[in-house]
Amino acid sequence: MMEEWRLPGYDEQLEKLEIKLLLEAVYLEYGYDFRQYAYPSLRRRIRRRALLEKQEDISSLQGRVLHDRDAFERLLSDLVIPVTELFRNPATFRWLRERLTDGLRDVSFLRVWHAGCATGEEAYSSAIWLEEEGMLGQARIYATDISRAALNRAREGQLPKDRFPLYDSNYREAGGQSELSRHCEEEEGFFTFKASLKERIVFAEHNLATDRSFNEFHLIFCRNVMIYFDPSLRERVHRLFYESLAPGGILVLGGKESLAFTSHADHYETLSEEHRVYRKIE
Ligand SMILES: C[S@@+](CC[C@H](N)C(=O)[O-])C[C@H]1O[C@@H](n2cnc3c(N)ncnc32)[C@H](O)[C@@H]1O
Repeated sequence: MMEEWRLPGYDEQLEKLEIKLLLEAVYLEYGYDFRQYAYPSLRRRIRRRALLEKQEDISSLQGRVLHDRDAFERLLSDLVIPVTELFRNPATFRWLRERLTDGLRDVSFLRVWHAGCATGEEAYSSAIWLEEEGMLGQARIYATDISRAALNRAREGQLPKDRFPLYDSNYREAGGQSELSRHCEEEEGFFTFKASLKERIVFAEHNLATDRSFNEFHLIFCRNVMIYFDPSLRERVHRLFYESLAPGGILVLGGKESLAFTSHADHYETLSEEHRVYRKIE
């Protein structure tokens, strides 16, 4: 369907220029910086948005996005991709629980950062893990994203009932020690995470492309975010994480992400290549 969309006088180089100008306009007008995101995925999403907005080309989409905030919000929601799950990749959470809990227990005030937390399920997963190990009371979880809409949903902490069977199965596979329902209050049509979990999580806006470090962390998760970035932006984000980790701190990446080929690879030891878990060594 997408491939059928051809502009009159379609020219790949021209399209590249139009996308560059659109991203520049978005940055200057709205402050969101997508200029160093991986091009093929950006192009696919921008083309799709142009089609849905019934625009003839990307320059016209640019005009629309600049003059119509709602059109910008629609483009933004195409670009941020807030897809997530509770205990996503449960084997990774099981590995973390089995291998890291004892070491983290020794930290007097544990600080965890979920960078690119989307609607918050990953941060709630950590909160549940730490709560079941009796460590949540001495922990603070910071969960950040660029998407305000995703963060608002994260703060609400609601789980739709139809997702519950998947999340319950993830919870068990991840080594959950009781019942997932024990961590939620049941309401009509959905579950809400208990206040005892919510109060340990700070949800806030933070842009990995432009913002700085804001604390020192013992554990940083950044999963399924950098796959959308180009190599130079990945490099920036790895520097940010390196600067934000305490000595011996742990970095957890997504299944398709790696530290290899970044200039920081030598500053970490690999704890699990399978689960993409690394420890800062210097
Ligand atoms: C696919 S979701 C990953 C969610 C979660 N980490 C997981 O693995 O389930 C990617 C998230 O990264 C966020 N994101 C994209 N660019 C970002 C940036 N520059 N700074 C912070 N978050 C960003 C998106 O808004 C989206 O919520």
